[in-house]
Amino acid sequence: MQNINDVRNKLIAQVAVSDNPRDLLKVPEFKQLYSVISTLPVEQRGAYGKSINELKQALEAAILSREAELEDATVEMIDITAPWDVNTGQQNLLSTEQGTQHPLTLELELIVDIFTRMGFEAVESRQIDDDHHMFGSLNFPENHPARDNFDTFRTEEGFVSPAHTSTMQNRILIEGKAKLEAGGQIAAVSYGRVFRNEDLDATHEHTFYQYEGVFVSKDATLGQMLGTLRSFFEIYYDQKLKTKTQPAYFPFVEPGLEFAIERPAALNGKPGEWLEMLGCGMIHPNVLAAAGIDSTKYRGFAWGGGVERLAMLKYGIEDIRHFESGKLQFLRKFL
Ligand code: FA5
Repeated sequence: MQNINDVRNKLIAQVAVSDNPRDLLKVPEFKQLYSVISTLPVEQRGAYGKSINELKQALEAAILSREAELEDATVEMIDITAPWDVNTGQQNLLSTEQGTQHPLTLELELIVDIFTRMGFEAVESRQIDDDHHMFGSLNFPENHPARDNFDTFRTEEGFVSPAHTSTMQNRILIEGKAKLEAGGQIAAVSYGRVFRNEDLDATHEHTFYQYEGVFVSKDATLGQMLGTLRSFFEIYYDQKLKTKTQPAYFPFVEPGLEFAIERPAALNGKPGEWLEMLGCGMIHPNVLAAAGIDSTKYRGFAWGGGVERLAMLKYGIEDIRHFESGKLQFLRKFL
């Protein structure tokens, strides 16, 4: 029994300072205590066995508390504000990198900058919206097949993830109405992320970015719109461009057009290679009416285009899916 007490005092003292306290359960001094049992008179064996068990339990408790202490000490050593490799104790195994802006952010900033310099006010679009802004206020009749062109995702509560930035038109028109009535004009550009239930390929993403212009005045014309768009594309691509339009259908404009540019030779284009860049047209009277604007007094135009396709042409990117892939090799080209 004296021996058990000696072993207890010694081992518990060692546990308190050990880095691997659990190993002390394997030391010979402790194991030997068990081998003594068979040498004892039968009547003493019970009490002796009980004492060893008590020692084992005391040791276990001391080990657990020492392990918790060691874990706390390790946690305290971590400096969460340090560069990631400092805490591994193996600094500079891999060099750390500063983050940079995503190429789409850079392009969006450039696009918005060009339009704001022309006098348009910038408004970021929403990433969750409702049926009224997605369809109703944009002159999509209930159950109209045109809704299928803007098939998007819905929440159980009936909210929609916008399939285009045109969801901002009604808000822009309502906000600008007073300015219009005071003799001014509405000139805004909205931009942001949009979503479509889409089959993916090299030119189609389910999540992409759009930019959209809305202009309303007493006497806005299609000619002004075409001039604005041509200027925009020539500034963006930094060269003179050939442009053309062709008829297109969108319920919220009348007439509706697609605006195309001829791919410039400097961007590997051949004459006659036309690229559709965006949808546009004169704002439909019903869309003005939905915002409380009198369409007999005011006229407007709007356009909406994709940011990825704009950038793909500029940088010769062959697949739209690179943008959201997170591939560093791709992203580093835009540093
Ligand atoms: C629209 O989204 C209309 N809201 C545009 C508009 C605005 C018309 C205002 C009239 C007045 P559309 O579905 O064609 O139209 O898309 C516009 C542009 O978004 C396309 O020209 C293309 O550049 C881009 N786009 C459309 N779908 C995708 C897609 N799945 N992936 C990447 N870009 C896309």
